[in-house]
Amino acid sequence: MVKRFIWVAIATIFFVFQFHTNSASAVELNANTRTIVLNDAGETVTLSSEEVTEGQRLFNSNCTKCHLQGKTKTNNNVSLGVSDLAGAEPPRDNLLALVDYLKNPTSYDGENNLSEEHPNISRPDLYPELRNLTEDDVYSVAGYMLVAPKLDERWGGTIYF
Ligand code: HEC
Repeated sequence: MVKRFIWVAIATIFFVFQFHTNSASAVELNANTRTIVLNDAGETVTLSSEEVTEGQRLFNSNCTKCHLQGKTKTNNNVSLGVSDLAGAEPPRDNLLALVDYLKNPTSYDGENNLSEEHPNISRPDLYPELRNLTEDDVYSVAGYMLVAPKLDERWGGTIYF
């Protein structure tokens, strides 16, 4: 009898936990959170929840190995935090600039082409893992990088060892 009660208790806890995690992932981000800067003129765009979710999925599978939480392994000075993006030449703190970076990455001062050093979709010979990314995918990943700092205050900055 007691044993049975324990099992029911465990099952209940498990069920409640499942319910909570499911409902957490189903939470829709509000439009304000999904609204980001589109271009260097400061116009804005509101991404759909699907675009943010897809952008996050693609970012996690292709970028987190070097950019976990928006930090940059091997180069602490060039994180994906908004202020670091803003300080690049030309500034990268908008959606279209990030789309451009994923096609033609350049050094922080804009002087050098990094298409042989940084993953991008223009060199499928060097970065076959990004070969299947469509224009929409690139847009979603770029957009996610501007939504992420609103979801995680630890996004960007320095890696401490
Ligand atoms: C092999 C490691 C590596 C991978 C994988 C990688 N990056 Fe990077 N990323 C870097 C490094 C290193 C830099 C700094 C480059 C420099 O010296 O300017 C950087 C810089 C950037 C910048 C410029 C940041 C700024 O403040 O100007 C963006 C944007 C970026 N990466 C996005 C991405 C995205 C999106 C992906 C996935 C599609 C990705 N990176 C995958 C290593 C990586």
